[in-house]
Amino acid sequence: MLQKENILIVDDDINILELLQRHLHSLNYHTYKAVSVKEAVTILRDTEIDLLITDLKMPEVDGFQLIQFASEHYPNMPKLVVTGYPSVQDALSAIKSGAVDYLVKPFTKEELKQGVLKSLSTKTKKKTIAESSVTKKYNEIIGESEAIKDVTQIIDRIKDNKATIFISGESGTGKELVARSIHYSGKFSRKPFIAVNCGGIPENLLESELFGYVKGAFTGANDNREGFFQAAEGGTIFLDEIGNASLAVQSRLLRVLQEKEVMKVGERKTEKIDVRVIAATNSNLKEMIAKKTFREDLFYRLTVVEINVPPLRERKEDIPLLADKFLFKYGNEYKDRYITVDTEAQALLQRYDWPGNIRELENVIQRAVIMCDRTIGIKDLPETLKYQIDFPKDELLSLKEMEKKYIQKVLAATLNNQTKAAEILNIDRKTLRSKIKE
Ligand SMILES: Nc1ncnc2c1ncn2[C@@H]1O[C@H](COP(=O)(O)OP(=O)(O)OP(=O)(O)O)[C@@H](O)[C@H]1O
Ligand SMILES: [Mg+2]
Repeated sequence: MLQKENILIVDDDINILELLQRHLHSLNYHTYKAVSVKEAVTILRDTEIDLLITDLKMPEVDGFQLIQFASEHYPNMPKLVVTGYPSVQDALSAIKSGAVDYLVKPFTKEELKQGVLKSLSTKTKKKTIAESSVTKKYNEIIGESEAIKDVTQIIDRIKDNKATIFISGESGTGKELVARSIHYSGKFSRKPFIAVNCGGIPENLLESELFGYVKGAFTGANDNREGFFQAAEGGTIFLDEIGNASLAVQSRLLRVLQEKEVMKVGERKTEKIDVRVIAATNSNLKEMIAKKTFREDLFYRLTVVEINVPPLRERKEDIPLLADKFLFKYGNEYKDRYITVDTEAQALLQRYDWPGNIRELENVIQRAVIMCDRTIGIKDLPETLKYQIDFPKDELLSLKEMEKKYIQKVLAATLNNQTKAAEILNIDRKTLRSKIKE
């Protein structure tokens, strides 16, 4: 039997690459090999690939990012994950970011064959349903309010040039979504979009992750490595939570923006790069500048174009549209049908202030879809939504009552983060916990 499907295999371990190649050749598949995500992206761009098989843990850019990139650019290409680190969490995240199936190392040739057949079979099946919806999923900014129209108008104006963009907005307002839609609606959309969470990478690693390093730059640097900036060449790097970058990283970033060149850690030479930078934060950089924890000159370089994503409470007319999207999404996922919301619950959704913005709305709907039968009623909504309603402006309360309601409000605003809530209330966490118990 002659099979001519092109399979791209990505693994930083050459031995695994060769093993996979041997097996796949003997099964009559044609293979392409890549030892890094960067190489894989180049091959994907130039070649018609029928199946992507990738490792998850790789230095520089990992397999999750590759799967996400491939899901955005090649939604119909099945993706199979091969990994030596089996854990439910990895499997879930891989599948969430678009992988079709999961294979744990070491595997037999037969297991590989079954995995490949299964993944390839989804290709033809999915084509009709998913083609448009998957690509749309990432770019679609829902909303008809003036506030959100302003945002989409700016996106339209700037998407095709490489000016640095700064996105501000409260947590959960859709900053990352805005960044993605700038990239994917613009003319560099076939180039990589690399998202870096500056708050998620330990401070001492951020510099080398961003810019790469040379062999011997520090203990453990046994090789030359490229950074996120080099990986994003030609496309967009999204620096999320930029307020968390150390001053050392900030001064390097300033240089990148000024000179359009990066320097690997431990390297003397610089290299030219062509990358659009989008930065985002929900912290108040002006305040940080006053405290000298954020460089003012960097701030001005970053804010060539500014987009402020408005909080949901300032565009309440978008609530029903957004709710609809999530009802559809989770109805499909959990109940296999479209779930409706009764009038009372609708009114509650509409009146609530949504301190956690769209992410909070999404979580509330997701939970309610799981809890409800066919229609979401007040009983399916979390307590926090009801407290706000039960808090009429002119009602006079005892101090104790007032304290209780206020604690609830702060907890809701911090999405139940007790550490943050205690900070805001200016009491210690133990006190807060005992008050919650009461
Ligand atoms: N206008 C919108 N239309 C559809 N979905 C949206 C919209 N805005 C946000 N979302 C969804 O809400 C969720 C949160 O958005 P996103 O992650 O972009 O927020 P964020 O501002 O980056 O939040 P954080 O500051 O917490 O990182 C995502 O699932 C996103 O797809
Ligand atoms: Mg974000």
